[in-house]
Amino acid sequence: MTSGSTPQPLQGRILSGIQPTGNLHLGNYLGAIRNWVALQKDFECLFCIVDLHAITVWQDPKELSRSTREVAAGMIAAGIDPATNALFVQSHVPAHAELAWVFNCVARLGWLNRMTQFKDKAGKNREAASAGLYVYPNLMAADILVYKATHVPVGEDQKQHLELARDIAQKFNNDYGVELFPLPEPVIRGPGMRVMSLRDGSKKMSKSDPSDFSRLNMTDDADAIAGKVRKATTDPHPLPDSAAGLEGRAEAANLLNIYAALTDRSLDEVIAEQAGTQFSQFKARLTDKAVSVLGPINAEMKRLMDDPAEIDRVLKRGADKANSIAEPVLAEVYKTVGFLPAGR
Ligand code: AMP
Ligand code: TRP
Repeated sequence: MTSGSTPQPLQGRILSGIQPTGNLHLGNYLGAIRNWVALQKDFECLFCIVDLHAITVWQDPKELSRSTREVAAGMIAAGIDPATNALFVQSHVPAHAELAWVFNCVARLGWLNRMTQFKDKAGKNREAASAGLYVYPNLMAADILVYKATHVPVGEDQKQHLELARDIAQKFNNDYGVELFPLPEPVIRGPGMRVMSLRDGSKKMSKSDPSDFSRLNMTDDADAIAGKVRKATTDPHPLPDSAAGLEGRAEAANLLNIYAALTDRSLDEVIAEQAGTQFSQFKARLTDKAVSVLGPINAEMKRLMDDPAEIDRVLKRGADKANSIAEPVLAEVYKTVGFLPAGR
């Protein structure tokens, strides 16, 4: 804290998780990471790279290692301060998996059967899904509750899992007659930003889209960004002068939304400013903004990725801090459940 600024009391403890699978893209940045950066000033934050969750579906081992470091680099480059918060890897803190086992015995099959993410990810052939994918939400509850986190920033798609974490906390407290776990609250900041694919405005920008032209990666340099924006799907009309004019124009709406988010303004303001502009001109403006926001981030990511030992040191420090909070909570849980203390 610099002298002169008055430190505000923190509003609670945040735990957030991100999977180290595939490339980080503009959707991750605008929809998640940028919000986390903003939360650091009001909350004590723990940011967890959830490799245990990642392997609930098949991951190539080399790619998983690379991606774990890339997520760490992306978060640091985007402005997460690993000195004041804990940035760490889930598998480096054994208490997550240990508490998850206890929660496997608290959560009911009926609860898990209602989880829509399992249904989506398992697809038609449920028999072939991993058991890990099924109990995924119990591990997520452990991620949160092993720190007694009070707040969790989540997108729409993870709200059901957070509800389940609350149910688990409540049932544990009731079953054992304790007030051990707080019920974690969702934190929703700003408008629920959803970045759509550059190729198809009806699909979410996603790391699993086979076309790299569908997304701006956080590692894309200025040339790659310019090329992808130039090729982005549009329609033949100039930009409209009101939000109503975006009806049925998903691609135009998406590019305007991205432009608004990158320039920190409302969609209405951007529509008013760009009314009547041809796409060719608007795309040049969008490219400039995207390069000015992503450029410094990807330069810093490249620097960090060239020095994996530095990333690993940061993650070690984060894990030490996380372990120091998680271990006593796990000990409290084990004692509550009736497990004998390990002999010395
Ligand atoms: P995922 O890449 O699906 O593991 O998501 C990591 C985080 O980024 C989650 O908080 C998501 O809600 C967010 N996210 C992923 N894709 C998008 C997108 N296209 N628009 C907005 N947020 C996204
Ligand atoms: N399930 C989350 C996702 O897919 C990732 C996650 C794991 C998480 N553990 C968490 C998010 C704890 C918030 C809190 O995006």
